[in-house]
Amino acid sequence: MDDLRNKYIDLIAGASDEGALEDLRVQAVGKKGEISLKMRELGKMTPEERQTAGPALNALKDEINAALAAKKAGLADAALNERLKGEWLDVTLPTRAMRQGTIHPISQVTEEITAIFADMGFAVAEGPQIDTDWYNFDALNIPGHHPARAEMDTFYMHRAEGDDRPPHVLRTHTSPVQIRYMEKHGAPCRIIAPGRVYRADYDQTHTPMFNQVEGLAIDKDISMANLKWVLEEFFSAFFEIDGIKTRFRASHFPFTEPSAEVDIQCSWVDGQLKIGEGDGWLEVLGSGMVHPKVLAAAGVDPNEWQGFAFGMGIDRIAMLKYGIPDLRAFFDSDLRWLRHYGFASLDVPTLHGGLSR
Ligand code: PHE
Repeated sequence: MDDLRNKYIDLIAGASDEGALEDLRVQAVGKKGEISLKMRELGKMTPEERQTAGPALNALKDEINAALAAKKAGLADAALNERLKGEWLDVTLPTRAMRQGTIHPISQVTEEITAIFADMGFAVAEGPQIDTDWYNFDALNIPGHHPARAEMDTFYMHRAEGDDRPPHVLRTHTSPVQIRYMEKHGAPCRIIAPGRVYRADYDQTHTPMFNQVEGLAIDKDISMANLKWVLEEFFSAFFEIDGIKTRFRASHFPFTEPSAEVDIQCSWVDGQLKIGEGDGWLEVLGSGMVHPKVLAAAGVDPNEWQGFAFGMGIDRIAMLKYGIPDLRAFFDSDLRWLRHYGFASLDVPTLHGGLSR
């Protein structure tokens, strides 16, 4: 039994890989292995012989199994160490000259706007960019014959031959989200709806696709005064300048009554535009008290509820804040421009952490 033991302990110690180890296991303690066969011989022994040989054989089997397991673990460790040596990596080496992606200024500004309005209790809503003319026009008190439809330079979708229903449109503003939101959630509500809008127009200050953010606040007693406070609060936070003044000019939109266009204070010094100082004014948005017909179209009782809405060009205020001179550059996908005006991807704008740092 000692010979058997020494033989296998030596062989196991010398095994060079897991395959050789497995062969040894079969040879020693497998079904027809040397030690297993010896155990079968126990039956032919006298009870006295068996009393000593039995436990000894069992102990031997355990010892061989333990040696096999230990060797197997040792081989695995050695293999891992070998691999680690081969795949060793100096993490202190400088990275390769790799360009990091950046956040587009429109995405950045949308996040900034969202952070500011979220702080004032506005949720973010979304609507489809392809919408029916009912949501884009009729429900907003712009009936079929209304001149505003022509003014909007609307993109109409094709209908299949013989389909007489009015065509879908690429939404010309984010205002249809007002209807969709109130229809679904009723009043009171307080939302902003940022997103893409489309108009057939192209020059230095117009692109056929651009971005707006809609604001909507409906409750029992919301007034123009609330609108003015919210907007001034917004502009001060957005431009990071305390006490920006706004100017409300009477205007007309079919979906608000009364309506106002809103300007922010600015100055032109040596051809440079400065926000929040001086005696110039820059138009930045349209707004007003939501028209009773619009509330009714969305299933909200105008005798019970009232509130304000506004629509603001995101691209416009992004250009103002970050000194971007040409609107068209936003959508050119020019890498040099994107690297220059883009934002670090991990700097998420928050009110407490800073909006644009
Ligand atoms: N939808 C208007 C536009 O695109 C803006 C607006 C929204 C005006 C809400 C008043 C109220 O010009």
